[in-house]
Amino acid sequence: MAVTPATWTPSSWREHPARHQPAWPDAAAAEQSVEQLKALPPLVFAGEARDLRAALADVAAGRAFLLQAGDCAESFRDFSAVSIREKLKILLQMSIVLIYGSTLPLVKVGRIAGQFAKPRSEPTEVVDGVELPSFFGHMVNDDLPDAAARIPDPERMLRAYHQSAATLNLLRAFTKGGFADLTQVHMWNQEFAASAPEGQRYEAVAAEIERALGFMRACGIDLVDAPQLHQVDVWTSHEGLVLDYEEGLTRRDSLTGDFYDCSAHMLWIGDRTRDPEGAHVRFFAGVHNPLGVKLGPSATPEDVVALCERLNPLRLPGRLTFVVRMGADRVVEALPPLLRAVRELGQPVVWACDPMHANVFRTAGGIKTRSFDAIMREIEAFFATCRAEGAWPGGVHLEFTGEDVTECLGGSAAVLEEQLTTRYESLCDPRLNARQSLDLAFRVAELMRS
Ligand code: PEP
Ligand code: CO
Repeated sequence: MAVTPATWTPSSWREHPARHQPAWPDAAAAEQSVEQLKALPPLVFAGEARDLRAALADVAAGRAFLLQAGDCAESFRDFSAVSIREKLKILLQMSIVLIYGSTLPLVKVGRIAGQFAKPRSEPTEVVDGVELPSFFGHMVNDDLPDAAARIPDPERMLRAYHQSAATLNLLRAFTKGGFADLTQVHMWNQEFAASAPEGQRYEAVAAEIERALGFMRACGIDLVDAPQLHQVDVWTSHEGLVLDYEEGLTRRDSLTGDFYDCSAHMLWIGDRTRDPEGAHVRFFAGVHNPLGVKLGPSATPEDVVALCERLNPLRLPGRLTFVVRMGADRVVEALPPLLRAVRELGQPVVWACDPMHANVFRTAGGIKTRSFDAIMREIEAFFATCRAEGAWPGGVHLEFTGEDVTECLGGSAAVLEEQLTTRYESLCDPRLNARQSLDLAFRVAELMRS
């Protein structure tokens, strides 16, 4: 079923106001980079995007849960097999905890293999007392504190493409080639987490899973031939912010004739670019991928209705995911009118909670952070509000890393304010570390069961 509006083309977004686009200094060079992207192979196949949409349709129907997580901003510098593997490990561990705890299928989506562009509230920022053009993500400019490094360079879109291709290649190898095999469940626990309380709790779950597998084997069930035990689907996603890049990777599917943005399986529209009349919504209305839209505290029922009409006029289940990021103290009032507006429309959307982006604050020392408590409070309020309104709390959207960083405060590991500078490596927003992520997964699994 085609969703593309009649006059839509991959470049028709250019006729609409596009916010947060890079100010490329040389328009001809930017155009050349887009032309080069158009000639490159797609990163994902349209059929995969359709499979993800079908999986998300189960979430919309209340039969599955969504875990979408990864870096705030991927980095050209921190790019290695180890960093990809560590992120995958924590994603797999959280998946085990959530599936075991809830006994529901889990749709696993990474903020990975393309999450290179950042919307920024201000065009400039002060670094060590010097005012510089803001850092807009490695797809656009460099984060180094140097005016020349901050000049947008469209060649970076090509580098983002190649890094995404290599990242996706390794993800596919790990998830289909044995690393994600359920018999490896102990191996995903990291050394620094294994001795901690949440690591031990994970070990206990892993041991139970081994027992269950042993039980099935003893009953004569053939586990060798069950692909579900040996492979997982980890889908890719990023914010579809830089429309030059997204246009450059849009292809017509040879099987259906429909357009897909082949830069990722799922794309989301940020809270700052979700204007129903704006270029981002116009662009994504025409591609058939599953889409997310972030909804911050300023979102109105009218906005949500307009987004549903533009992005999912055919009401396809799984096409649209609303990622709510209201802040721990605002969900309870802000969410019900949106849930009701969507229910009245009869739209089969997924509701997910991003407990990260409205809970950022600066410490007295000026460090951008989030507290584990506020993150959990927002998730709890989201679950309670959805349940009170008869909606399915379908998922969580998180910023995490597999490393032992100190960027968010609290958790059972209790990162303290004075420890934030010990290992603060995020290019943009503070991320949950591996122990905090695992701790959070156990708490979300409990919420799902309650
Ligand atoms: C993000 O997800 O990193 C982000 C910028 O989110 P939002 O659009 O919700 O502010
Ligand atoms: Co972020």
